[in-house]
Amino acid sequence: TLEFPTAALLLAWYDRHHRDLPWRVSPPMAARGVMPDPYRVWLSEVMLQQTTVPAVKSYFAKFLERWPTVGDLAAAANEDVMVAWAGLGYYARARNLKKCAEAVAADHGGRFPDTEDGLRALPGIGDYTAAAVAAIAFNRQAAVMDGNVERVISRLYAISAPLPAAKPLMKQKVAQLTPADRPGDFAQAMMDLGATICTPRRPVCSLCPFNGACQALAGHDPEHFPVKAAK
Ligand code: ADE
Repeated sequence: TLEFPTAALLLAWYDRHHRDLPWRVSPPMAARGVMPDPYRVWLSEVMLQQTTVPAVKSYFAKFLERWPTVGDLAAAANEDVMVAWAGLGYYARARNLKKCAEAVAADHGGRFPDTEDGLRALPGIGDYTAAAVAAIAFNRQAAVMDGNVERVISRLYAISAPLPAAKPLMKQKVAQLTPADRPGDFAQAMMDLGATICTPRRPVCSLCPFNGACQALAGHDPEHFPVKAAK
């Protein structure tokens, strides 16, 4: 079936071609037991929600320099956080960021909960962020779905049902594929693949680790996926 060795192929690709990003452990933790700081993972994932990787980098550095721990951010003045956020947009994210830091400091002794459910209970943390932080910071086998992952998975399985109705099916496929040993690397590998190889237009299938398994490629029409509901 598709489940194995598909994940292993992707992880081998990621070990060679992963993007070096400031919130990642580099080289990938690769089951070495090296884990990134949950605060850095959470901060980066909140910033990346509606903002591109290049735009996030300088803000991420600025926040970490100014507030190196979640406790520092919790103790910051609201006004200072809003000013530092200026330019990233979607200011509700900044307000929730501050509220979440306060909750982690006050209710969790300054340590992020290490499960998807525990994370989702925090202010401003929804399904995506809870899954991403659980997988990347705590190596939990959580299914992480964003736009890039939807594109990769819809092509791999040639999912013909349209978005957004197809999301539960896509999430189920991602969950089946997510390996127990490196779920955080797997999630980030799916994101990198979607950003660099499995692009919306003219995907570079010749370089894709899934090119022997991809059902959309076998059908000669990767660009057809994901299918979107007619407006
Ligand atoms: N987009 C959202 N989260 C990301 C991550 N951890 N790495 C790369 N791109 C992302």
